[in-house]
Amino acid sequence: MDFTTLKGRSFLAEKEFSREEFLTFIELAEKLKDEKKKGITHRHLEGKNIALLFEKPSTRTRCAFTVACIDLGAHPEYLGKDDIQLGKKESIEDTAKVLGRMFDGIEFRGFEHKKVQMLAEHSGVPVWNGLTDMWHPTQTLADFLTVKENFGKLEGIKFVYVGDGRNNVANSLLVGGALVGMDVRIASPESLFPEQDVVELAKEYAAQSGGKVTITSNVDEAVAGADVIYTDVWVSMGEEDKFAERISLLSPYQVNMEMVKKTGNNDMIFLHCLPAFHDLETAYGRDINEKHGLPEMEVTDEVFRSNHSKVFDQAENRMHTIKAVMAATLGNL
Ligand code: CP
Repeated sequence: MDFTTLKGRSFLAEKEFSREEFLTFIELAEKLKDEKKKGITHRHLEGKNIALLFEKPSTRTRCAFTVACIDLGAHPEYLGKDDIQLGKKESIEDTAKVLGRMFDGIEFRGFEHKKVQMLAEHSGVPVWNGLTDMWHPTQTLADFLTVKENFGKLEGIKFVYVGDGRNNVANSLLVGGALVGMDVRIASPESLFPEQDVVELAKEYAAQSGGKVTITSNVDEAVAGADVIYTDVWVSMGEEDKFAERISLLSPYQVNMEMVKKTGNNDMIFLHCLPAFHDLETAYGRDINEKHGLPEMEVTDEVFRSNHSKVFDQAENRMHTIKAVMAATLGNL
């Protein structure tokens, strides 16, 4: 593995990396995962200090960055939305300069993508995107590692994303999938199709990688022969007033056993970035059920708990892939 072009870089979006560079993160994650399972330590960030900035709640991303930091020998410092002045009483530029004087790397989760770009521009240290409104690139790495673990390859994989086609996860999977040569299909209502510039970018990558890009509202067409069906929540963080509209638009796109059977592929896998609304074990789920009479949303409990579902491998892989990103961009490998 060659890390020379990755060292010192920020990780903000898939589109900023070549196919080879993106695959290097996944290969390194495989190695680090294997080492962790064998109890082999890999303290590539010994003595470093890492700021973890979260303007939104998180289970997987926060825990993955924290555990990855500690496994790599670094110290993680969590800074929640009310802990620092980022953009409120201090400009992002000034905060970035201060954090860059004290920390060796910065993770950011928030709303506007511009904020993570400004942190990268002004801090002078690698900045890693833990999710913005536009992209969720550390999620893509974990998803693709999970695909590789199940199919032994990424190239040519028929990867179908079903649901809200213009959210950050869909954007990232569309561009990331095209970058690595997948046959990426987005199935969503036309009003939730990805932005045209994202589609054009993905098509450019697909032309170079031998991949394919399809955007369609026809679920049957999209899932035919699928290796992977992926979905995400119907309403993203900050859009909670849109539930009624999204339920009506996205109910035909629910991942259920009928959809799984339509793939015609017994070996297909189901992925979800989580958290998922697949039962009534959450306050949110119960509230939606009371208001809209819907006990399951984007995926049925049957599919979520089936042998097709690899969602917890995928969640674990957040840690191994995030570790790879930090080690490759900041570590001495
Ligand atoms: N998938 C994901 O980003 O999970 P969290 O919101 O829990 O970090």
